[in-house]
Formats: sequence, C-alpha cells, structure tokens
Amino acid sequence: MNIQFSPNALKEFKSFDTLYDNPKSKLLPTLHLAQKEFGYLSPEVIEYVATLTELSPAKVKEVASFYTMLHKKPVGKYHIQICTNISCTMMKSRELFSHLKKKLKIEAGETTQDKKFTLSTAECLGGCDKAPTLRINDTYYYQVTPEKMEQLLKELP
Ligand code: FES
Repeated sequence: MNIQFSPNALKEFKSFDTLYDNPKSKLLPTLHLAQKEFGYLSPEVIEYVATLTELSPAKVKEVASFYTMLHKKPVGKYHIQICTNISCTMMKSRELFSHLKKKLKIEAGETTQDKKFTLSTAECLGGCDKAPTLRINDTYYYQVTPEKMEQLLKELP
C-alpha cells in the first residue's frame, strides 16, 4: 500500500479511539478524514481505511457508497451538490440544476475542464424548510435562486 495519513491525520485518527468504542463507529469520521487527506476515496484509499479500522474493504466500500458527500472519484475544486428531494424540487431546485448545467456546460456527475466545478444532485441536505438547498464543498446555502447562484459563483475565490 503506497498511501498513508500524514502525521497530523494519523493523530486525528488515533483520537477517534477516545470517542468511539468500536471500529464501525469510527468508520464515517475516518472516511471523512481520508477524503480530506487524499481528495477522494479511491479503491486504494478504501483498502487503507479498511486496514486502519480493521473492517473488511467490502464493508468500507458499502458505507462509502451510501453517502453522497463521500467522493468515489476526483471532484473539482468546488463540488456543487443540489438537493433534488421533494421539498427542494417543489421550490425549483431542478430548474436551478438545469441553469447550472447550462452555465458550466457539464452534466450531472461531471467536472468542468478546468477542474474548478463538479456538479451533482443530492438527497435531502437537511434544509427542507429553506429550500432549495445546495452545498458547495462543506458550506450549505439556502433559498437559492439562479440569481443568488450567479452571485455565489462570482464570490468564490
Ligand atoms: S428536501 Fe432538500 S434539503 Fe430536504
């Protein structure tokens, strides 16, 4: 295995032992840490996490596959995830998604050629009462209109 956590990430991983008393409980935080460290969860990273948590690679892959916030392939600098669940759809999230597809010239799951943006749909992001909700990397935005989206894109560094 050619990958391993940096000393800081390894220290953070070891701190999970004080928080969780079984390997399954620390799997999700370890996957988040691995994504932060390596950018996405490649098969090699899945194997590494399985070794660290003493779980089977199949179990780690199964959990990683379930969560849309865990990336199984490289994403752009900004990963835009738009909720297309019921509340957000009723508040025109699909129109917002179409607007972004047109603007960025990519389809769902694709990344722009300059590797700046990846666009995805997501299941409920927990902001149903402020729909439509989207997430750019780790930040959530609510009641997003195409106009507000344009402004958000302009303000990204
Ligand atoms: S339905 Fe979109 S955040 Fe819940």
